[in-house]
Amino acid sequence: MKRVSSHVSLASEAEINLDLSRLIIDKPRFGLERKRSFDEQSWSELSHRQNDGFDSVLQSPAFPSGGFDSPFSMGTHFGGPHPLVNEAWEALRKSVVYFRGQPVGTIAAVDHASEEVLNYDQVFVRDFVPSALAFLMNNETDIVKNFLLKTLHLQSSEKMVDRFKLGAGAMPASFKVDRNKNRNTETLVADFGESAIGRVAPVDSGFWWIILLRAYTKYTGDVSLSESPDCQKCMRLILNLCLSEGFDTFPTLLCTDGCSMIDRRMGIYGYPIEIQALFYMALRCALQMLKPEGEGKEFIEKIGQRLHALTYHMRNYFWLDFHNLNNIYRYKTEEYSHTAVNKFNVIPDSIPDWVFDFMPCRGGYFLGNVSPAMMDFRWFALGNCIAIVSSLATPEQSVAIMDLIEERWDELVGEMPLKICYPAIENHEWRIITGCDPKNTRWSYHNGGSWPVLLWLLTAACIKTGRPQMAKRAIELAESRLLKDGWPEYYDGKLGRFVGKQARKFQTWSIAGYLVARMMLEDPSTLMMISMEEDRPVKPTMRRSASWNA
Ligand code: GLC
Repeated sequence: MKRVSSHVSLASEAEINLDLSRLIIDKPRFGLERKRSFDEQSWSELSHRQNDGFDSVLQSPAFPSGGFDSPFSMGTHFGGPHPLVNEAWEALRKSVVYFRGQPVGTIAAVDHASEEVLNYDQVFVRDFVPSALAFLMNNETDIVKNFLLKTLHLQSSEKMVDRFKLGAGAMPASFKVDRNKNRNTETLVADFGESAIGRVAPVDSGFWWIILLRAYTKYTGDVSLSESPDCQKCMRLILNLCLSEGFDTFPTLLCTDGCSMIDRRMGIYGYPIEIQALFYMALRCALQMLKPEGEGKEFIEKIGQRLHALTYHMRNYFWLDFHNLNNIYRYKTEEYSHTAVNKFNVIPDSIPDWVFDFMPCRGGYFLGNVSPAMMDFRWFALGNCIAIVSSLATPEQSVAIMDLIEERWDELVGEMPLKICYPAIENHEWRIITGCDPKNTRWSYHNGGSWPVLLWLLTAACIKTGRPQMAKRAIELAESRLLKDGWPEYYDGKLGRFVGKQARKFQTWSIAGYLVARMMLEDPSTLMMISMEEDRPVKPTMRRSASWNA
């Protein structure tokens, strides 16, 4: 295994600035400084860097101000290298997929024991993200670049579901290498949802692609990829799909069920938090990478406007804490006009009983979904963690999300981090919402199952909010089971104690997620790959009134 050496491309990023004129003029700036080993820099040097999402981390008393002895010793927080790390790297390497001799991604699961392969033999875009981060941190950048380029080219394939053509910007959910032994040829075949169970296009794929492009650029300091005409076009096509005008009255993105990590019917249609958080993050990443010349300029303007509205909407209407819950509980209904307090006409009787017990006095979270007369009160891990790392959550909201995880540790972390959502739906609700899905029974799979892959996102959120001890606790829980159980895809049960009913073994993102979590905790500066700093408050433009010079 190669030793991880550090990256320090940490120059300031072009933040969301709601003063649009600045956005257009400012070129996205990435640090061009090449990789140096962490040992060459002092911790204090790092702590002076701005705008990379570390400020809060490094100022936190949880991190030693004098610096870590050896950030790559795998011992800072753990007291020695863990045998699992080598095992994990070995397993991750076995999942690498080659196309014409080049590594282009990782297969979803290398489970030889499983009878049904389905599409677990494919490279999934969302599944590859933790693999990519692990490879980047290990200075194996080629596989990430190849993946970005291959998926970019797949974007231009013809995408048909029966006789209906999908939007040009759609990115594949997954792809595989088709090998013709007779002709000795290899081709890449993508699935944009036309073969997927349920025939749903993955809305998250394009967002993950943009987020990964930024991570690659940030880590390597190589701007040539993101600045290439192909990558610029790919980003514009993805954005075109979600920034076009329609009948929307909200800045959030309207989606169908099954369009993200939860790729089956689970009642997340509407405005699911997972997609809204990824949308926000991808918009901010794109803003840093889009060139302001030509068509890019128009997109930069549109992104600025959308972010302005999206941030307001999410922070106000999706946010739930004790205080807000009490307000909703006392809502009046059928209010008409601009002065309405209960804007979406949520009927207080629709608040499920469990929320009143679940909501601690200290803490809060982003709701699962908000649409007319509908609030999905379920807690979803991915959306809330992404909200923290992308700074969609204000610093206060980020602290509150972490407080809630701490207060509800048994429910959300239990014996295996991390619950995909809480709580599970059962009985009649399960029948109606999932369509009697036998895979999504209560406390299993997407319905309240525990997914080890989410460990890396939890760790990133912990580091961003200055709570490494919390991440350490979660990682140690995972370490006590993962290898022994053969790196399962998910665990079942209220506490996540049982290997999932139909969980694949040697699930790649469980392996990579663990490695990323561990490496990130050992070297918190790696967080900058996927972290964004708090957006600046809108600066009122000072203008002289017409009467000034009169
Ligand atoms: C399952 C998951 C999905 C994942 C795929 C491959 O369908 O729900 O999120 O991408 O498996 O691992």
